[in-house]
Amino acid sequence: MLKVIHDLNKAVAKKLTKTKIKFDFLYCYLKAKTIKLDSSIDKLNDFVFQECEDILCPLQIRSEISQLLEILKNLKPKTILEVGRSRGGTLFMFSRIARDDAVIISIDLNRNEGKRRPALYKSFALLEQKLHTLTMDSHKLESKKHLENILKDLKLDFLFIDGDHEYNGVKRDFELYSVLVRKGGIIAFHDIVPGSPEKTGGVPDFWNEIKTHYKYKEIVEDWNQKECGIGLIYC
Ligand SMILES: C[S@@+](CC[C@H](N)C(=O)[O-])C[C@H]1O[C@@H](n2cnc3c(N)ncnc32)[C@H](O)[C@@H]1O
Repeated sequence: MLKVIHDLNKAVAKKLTKTKIKFDFLYCYLKAKTIKLDSSIDKLNDFVFQECEDILCPLQIRSEISQLLEILKNLKPKTILEVGRSRGGTLFMFSRIARDDAVIISIDLNRNEGKRRPALYKSFALLEQKLHTLTMDSHKLESKKHLENILKDLKLDFLFIDGDHEYNGVKRDFELYSVLVRKGGIIAFHDIVPGSPEKTGGVPDFWNEIKTHYKYKEIVEDWNQKECGIGLIYC
């Protein structure tokens, strides 16, 4: 008898969790539509870090991404490539600082996005924006080719590298995609603060190697935080 009650409780809990997830997705989908392109950075952050945190799970420090978004607002990017979208937190924010006719591409290996996530991401695009979420290995040449087909003759205004954090991985992403960035464009790396191999991996070493070859900026809340931190280079 006890086992029957236990199994029943488990089934009800599972059903409730599923319903909550469905509801959270729907809320996120509808609310995202109300956040317009000229919204304040605080509003973008509140949406991603508070209202839809369970769905978008941003892997950023709020003060750091805010500073990056401030810089991007001035750049007004028409073409954006994000390597590493995880749950779409940065993708949403980039879509809102981009131009109304922007081409936004996000690439991730993630093969378990189900049906709801791709639909949610597509819905981030407003007005004439085109948003492409590619499920591919960014290191492969065929992924780059696919991306170039989308961009056609366009160069990138902004490249965000937050995918594979191994030294050779981040190096490969930089080598493959930095050449697509226009003069005057910006490349940003996430996780430049030295930390554990699981968190920042080889990014800090790679960042320290290349930064002095460019005009660069470091956005770091605290150099002792052992993760995060954003490094920008101006092309
Ligand atoms: C740190 S997360 C990205 C976080 C996201 N930008 C954010 O701030 O919310 C890193 C992502 O990179 C993806 N990734 C790792 N290696 C990759 C590769 N070779 N190609 C494409 N994506 C990769 C992982 O699947 C993961 O979702």
